[in-house]
Amino acid sequence: MNGDYTFSIVKPDALSTGKAGQILAMINEAGFEIAAMKLTRMTLQHAESFYSVHKGKPFFSNLVELMTSGPVIVMILRHNNAVEEFRKLIGSTDPAKAEPGTIRKKFASSITKNAVHGSDSDENAVRESNFFFSETERFL
Ligand code: CMP
Repeated sequence: MNGDYTFSIVKPDALSTGKAGQILAMINEAGFEIAAMKLTRMTLQHAESFYSVHKGKPFFSNLVELMTSGPVIVMILRHNNAVEEFRKLIGSTDPAKAEPGTIRKKFASSITKNAVHGSDSDENAVRESNFFFSETERFL
C-alpha cells in the first residue's frame, strides 16, 4: 500500500523567475492538498544535510549552491499514491527528458535548475517532511 503524503520543494530558480504561482496552481489542479507549507531559505548546512545522499557526486556543489541561492517553498502534499503521482506531475529530473505538460518541462531550465523537488520514496517523504516541519505545522 503506497502512502498518502509526499514532500516537495519549489526551488530558488522557480521563485526568482516568478514561476512559483503557476507551479502551485498546477499542483492544486492535479488534486494535491497542502498539508504543510512555508517560505524559507536553506543554509549551507541544511542543503548539505538534506541532499547528503548525493554527497561526492559531480553535481553536488552546484546543487548546494542553487538550493542556498534564495528562498524556497517547502510543502507536504496529500494525494493517494502521493510519491508516484507527484513524480508523474513534475516529470523527469532532466527537463530535456521530461514529458510535455509536466512542471519541469514547462518551468525547468536545466537538470540542476529543475524548478521542483519531489520525494522518491515514502521513506524519504517522511524523512524530508520531518526535516522541515514540526507536528504543529501540519494540518492534514
Ligand atoms: P532533486 O529532485 O531535487 O534531487 C537531486 C537534485 O540534484 C536533482 O533534483 C537535480 O536538481 C540535481 N542534479 C543535478 N545534476 C543531476 C544529475 N546528473 N542527476 C541527478 N540529479 C542531478
